[in-house]
Amino acid sequence: MELFEAIEKRFSNRKFLDKQIKDDDLRKILKAGMQAPVGRGKYEDMRITVIQNQELLDKITNLEERSVFYNAPTLIIISARDDGHGLDKENSACVAENMLLAATALGLGSIYLNLVIGLIKENKDILNELNLPEGFVPIVGVGIGYADGSHIREHLIDVDYIK
Ligand SMILES: Cc1cc2nc3c(=O)[nH]c(=O)nc-3n(C[C@H](O)[C@H](O)[C@H](O)COP(=O)(O)O)c2cc1C
Repeated sequence: MELFEAIEKRFSNRKFLDKQIKDDDLRKILKAGMQAPVGRGKYEDMRITVIQNQELLDKITNLEERSVFYNAPTLIIISARDDGHGLDKENSACVAENMLLAATALGLGSIYLNLVIGLIKENKDILNELNLPEGFVPIVGVGIGYADGSHIREHLIDVDYIK
């Protein structure tokens, strides 16, 4: 799929089929994430955790009444180590958006997730299961899987032109 088509077709998918994504598609999505811009080029301060283990996914689901990652079969957590420049959120968002667009281009459903991060950080057992190296903190979640339906929407943001 061409880039502008993927940008147009990306939407927050909140209903996933009970079917895992292909390893090859996962690799492409991870590669897209890694190609994202990161402040000062500090890629070593970023970490990506791919969760496909059903037991762990169930534990995260059970943190709330409903699954805050909508039972996506692949949950990716983007973590960062703060190097004192406070760019961890921006960096993680850049990585996440590349992944969302790559997933869309591959015909997959995806969603940017913030809520799941707060819940994981509050739960020491689950946080430990992420096995993050010292200093790394989860920042953004991305849910990926086969979408149950599609949804085309257009968003508008006000633009001021200064010419
Ligand atoms: C920073 C950020 C945090 C978000 N967190 C969540 C979330 O926790 N749960 C959720 O369902 N959607 C979340 N979203 C998705 C937005 O609600 C969604 O992108 C927005 O409503 C526009 O819809 P669209 O993605 O379908 O175009 C988040 C998006 C962003 C950029």
